[in-house]
Amino acid sequence: MTLTGHVGQFCALALTMLCVQARLPNLGAQGVNLLRLQKETGPIESLPQPASTEFSVLAATFPQFNFTQPLDHFTDTGFTFNQRYWVSDRHFKPGGPVIVLDGGETSGTDRLPYLDTGIVDILASATNGLGVVLEHRYYGASIPVLNFTTDSLRWLNNEQAAADSANFLRTVKFEGIDEDLTAPGTPWIYYGGSYAGARSAHMRVLYPDVVFGAIASSGVTFASLKDWQYYDIIRQFAPADCIKQVETTIVEVDELLSSDKTQATIQNVFGLPNVTHVEDFGSVLSSPLGAWQNNNWDPAVGSTSFANFCAALGTPNNTRVEITKGVSVNAAVLNYAAYVNRTLVARCRAPNTQDDCFGTFDPTAFQATDLSQDWRLWNFQVCTQWGFFTTAPPDPERPRIISKFITLEYSAQFCQFAYPPGEHFAIPPLPNITAVNSLGGFDIAADRLAIIDGQADPWRPNTPHSDDAKPRPDTTLRPFKLIEGAVHHWDENGISDHTAEPPTIKAVHEQEVEFVKAWLKDFKRPGKA
Ligand SMILES: *[C@@H]1O[C@H](CO)[C@@H](O)[C@H](O)[C@H]1NC(C)=O
Ligand SMILES: *[C@@H]1O[C@H](CO)[C@@H](O)[C@H](O)[C@H]1NC(C)=O
Ligand SMILES: *[C@@H]1O[C@H](CO)[C@@H](O)[C@H](O)[C@H]1NC(C)=O
Ligand SMILES: *[C@@H]1O[C@H](CO)[C@@H](O)[C@H](O)[C@H]1NC(C)=O
Ligand SMILES: *[C@@H]1O[C@H](CO)[C@@H](O)[C@H](O)[C@H]1NC(C)=O
Ligand SMILES: *[C@@H]1O[C@H](CO)[C@@H](O)[C@H](O)[C@H]1NC(C)=O
Repeated sequence: MTLTGHVGQFCALALTMLCVQARLPNLGAQGVNLLRLQKETGPIESLPQPASTEFSVLAATFPQFNFTQPLDHFTDTGFTFNQRYWVSDRHFKPGGPVIVLDGGETSGTDRLPYLDTGIVDILASATNGLGVVLEHRYYGASIPVLNFTTDSLRWLNNEQAAADSANFLRTVKFEGIDEDLTAPGTPWIYYGGSYAGARSAHMRVLYPDVVFGAIASSGVTFASLKDWQYYDIIRQFAPADCIKQVETTIVEVDELLSSDKTQATIQNVFGLPNVTHVEDFGSVLSSPLGAWQNNNWDPAVGSTSFANFCAALGTPNNTRVEITKGVSVNAAVLNYAAYVNRTLVARCRAPNTQDDCFGTFDPTAFQATDLSQDWRLWNFQVCTQWGFFTTAPPDPERPRIISKFITLEYSAQFCQFAYPPGEHFAIPPLPNITAVNSLGGFDIAADRLAIIDGQADPWRPNTPHSDDAKPRPDTTLRPFKLIEGAVHHWDENGISDHTAEPPTIKAVHEQEVEFVKAWLKDFKRPGKA
């Protein structure tokens, strides 16, 4: 999805770079622009910001190790790479399980809080388990290649990444631990949130004898090309007054953009006269909305930027203001324009033009392939296997909070710009989402596979809790839980005093402990009756 909400990982070596935590980053082309602008001009409010000092402390707390993986699990290339992982043995007792958290589409260092006070620590503590964070190939420091060209990215796919995890579970030897903790002799509980949540579900389905149990939190198991529902969830669950202001603005702005006579006038109001394409102008307007995904129950993790945006929009009324002779707009439009001008437009400075900052129609802007271009990673996955392109609702009558000019064609064109055909690999015209969905999509299910989602999560339409998915019972063997009012994988983080967590979070953590303990009771070492 445009950056907006689908902000990308951007996190490099710990503290040397500004680090943006990945939250299923469908950032797309405008997202790449905004990350670059942020790098040059400092934190942009609507992009998620990490608590970066915490990471360095945790990196010192948990030892880091390498695991040797083949570059290609299916064809021998002769090459291997180091896959990073971190271990917490603070709760481990012989006989305990391993709780592994899949790092997904970001540096594993971003996931260390979950090893310390989050879900891994919670489950390990309850089961005498060993906690592990496993970094995903190509992310963080687990990089098997020298650059991110299309050819070099051809081993970044779901099949290779799943095979990495299976290989790790089957063969890892933990330093300082005498027991053989490999699967299937030891039960492994696999946890992931968001993209990693889908991976968690996939692992249980693809490698049932290696992954004893799995939790898919906000797992996006249903891949779609047009993901118009992302913003529709925000429209349904964000504060009503705020959404009314956004709807009013978008409808009026779209109307003015539709006529040559008024297009320049309305772009001027936002301080964006020189953005050539209305699609780019529309996508800049949607970017503050992505902040919805940064809401978290723990103020230390979440951000108030969505609330700040709403505050800037004011309360709905019918005041109209003339912007040029004979053309007037609702006061909401001017509030929205002032917010965009202040938080985004003002950062675009000479010698950059507004198209340099906010344009996405120049293929050459997306062709750098050195290892610092880590936006190329998740976007490559999007462009090949996952989709999730932001679009306006297909039904023009449906209320909307993003511009009608955001089409599939617009959101997907960047794939062809960023990943020109190589000698060994070319991306498809549109991502082939068949492989993902053939693993179950909305219906993905298995014994000891838990599905946990958030009611107000913009990614819920891509999970088994989608309004389009069939209802299912919630059982101990197949837990199926929707956290009321929650956004994106809100069960993944925790605070050191779990009793002080909000009731819904405390409850889901307790339920996760309960069903994992019940699963473990059923564990039998293979080969032993
Ligand atoms: C892990 O591998 C990387 C290179 O991929 C290397 O820089 C690092 O020192 C290794 N770490 C350990 C603990 O061996
Ligand atoms: C990328 O790396 C490969 C080796 O893995 C090399 O052959 C190729 O020339 C590099 N391409 C660029 C553009 O750096
Ligand atoms: C945008 O903000 C700048 C200050 O950064 C101000 O000078 C300019 O007038 C504003 N433009 C609009 C159209 O509000
Ligand atoms: C827009 O382009 C014109 C003509 O090149 C230039 O004079 C003006 O400064 C630009 N305005 C902004 C806000 O970039
Ligand atoms: C309507 O909203 C605008 C902008 O939020 C505000 O300036 C104006 O005072 C409001 N008018 C009324 C009548 O409340
Ligand atoms: C998409 O992938 C599926 C399986 O992964 C394959 O069977 C199918 O041929 C692919 N479709 C296209 C158009 O390449």
